[in-house]
Amino acid sequence: MAEKIILTGDRPTGKLHVGHYVGSLKRRVELQNSGEFDKIFIMIADAQALTDNADNPAKVRDNIMEVALDYLSVGLDPAKSNIFIQSYVTELTELTFYYMNLVTVSRLQRNPTVKSEIQMRNFEASIPVGFFNYPISQAADITAFHATTVPVGEDQMPMIEQTKEIVHKFNFVYGDTLTDPQILLPDNKACLRLPGTDGKAKMSKSLGNCIYLSESEEDVRKKVMSMFTDPDHIRIEDPGKLEGNTVFTYLDAFCNDAHFAEYLPEYANLDELKAHYQRGGLGDVKVKKFLNNVMQEELSPIRARRKEYEQRIGDVYDILKEGSKVAREEAAKTLAEVKHAMKIDYFETPEFLEEQLAKYTG
Ligand code: TRP
Repeated sequence: MAEKIILTGDRPTGKLHVGHYVGSLKRRVELQNSGEFDKIFIMIADAQALTDNADNPAKVRDNIMEVALDYLSVGLDPAKSNIFIQSYVTELTELTFYYMNLVTVSRLQRNPTVKSEIQMRNFEASIPVGFFNYPISQAADITAFHATTVPVGEDQMPMIEQTKEIVHKFNFVYGDTLTDPQILLPDNKACLRLPGTDGKAKMSKSLGNCIYLSESEEDVRKKVMSMFTDPDHIRIEDPGKLEGNTVFTYLDAFCNDAHFAEYLPEYANLDELKAHYQRGGLGDVKVKKFLNNVMQEELSPIRARRKEYEQRIGDVYDILKEGSKVAREEAAKTLAEVKHAMKIDYFETPEFLEEQLAKYTG
């Protein structure tokens, strides 16, 4: 049977938050521990982060270790998952260069994620070429490891589609070489895009509406207790709305029936809690206290593990260094296959010289 290989990663532009956790990190750890995968590569995408932070290299550098600590603290295990830094694997840029020939400018312009990012960053007037090109570089990231499975959030769907197109085109033009990857989305709908604590669709540092994985117990509690709910639910007796109610979206993402048995035994499950809220007679504070218990249960082992790794930064450095070496060896093998398929492997086998000798000296 063909190998099952995971490749995924994150841009190191900030600490990871609970949205990253339910949208992707938690699943990665489950996949890692399922034992179903032959190889797992987790990439800190510093080169991609630089495509829209070219003038702020310090930010990218500062967040390498933060993201590595977040990875280790959620339970990614370097014995099972190879954690590495993208820029160290220089083969990725070489692959990108060749894939660029297989993609049109108009196809890149149609990529919905790139489109919205261009708007968000006010790049409309002058888009950096490197940024515009990052979906192609992401195809290099994925194919360099022959990834079969790419667990990511919904916003990455257009990148995977574009990767698949590159794989098909490459294999069609140069012969079967690259592996066609499958996206793996979170199975819980609330996890697809967790809103900010203020109810805004996007969590962002500048809005101050994120709960970070590294945050203290007290700060998490404060953020949960001041979360956006139903603004029309004023008195406890009032019927409450669930749509757009951030506390319930977070409960959808985080809680299970066991949490009710432990912290709120008057209800068997979330459906019963929701029904009571909608009927009226259930106050926001009670629901928030429950959510806080649920989130603390999930986050406290993560926090504890992070503290341990923070005391062992030298070891984390070694994990990254070793992981990057392993990743580079893997990518180098794929690059050799690609160059062979493209007939640009002049010095790797005797064939090129033989052909030329036959041609010129007959
Ligand atoms: N684009 C991803 C992000 O913004 C990071 C990333 C880069 C990635 N290369 C990847 C994710 C390859 C999955 C596969 O977080």
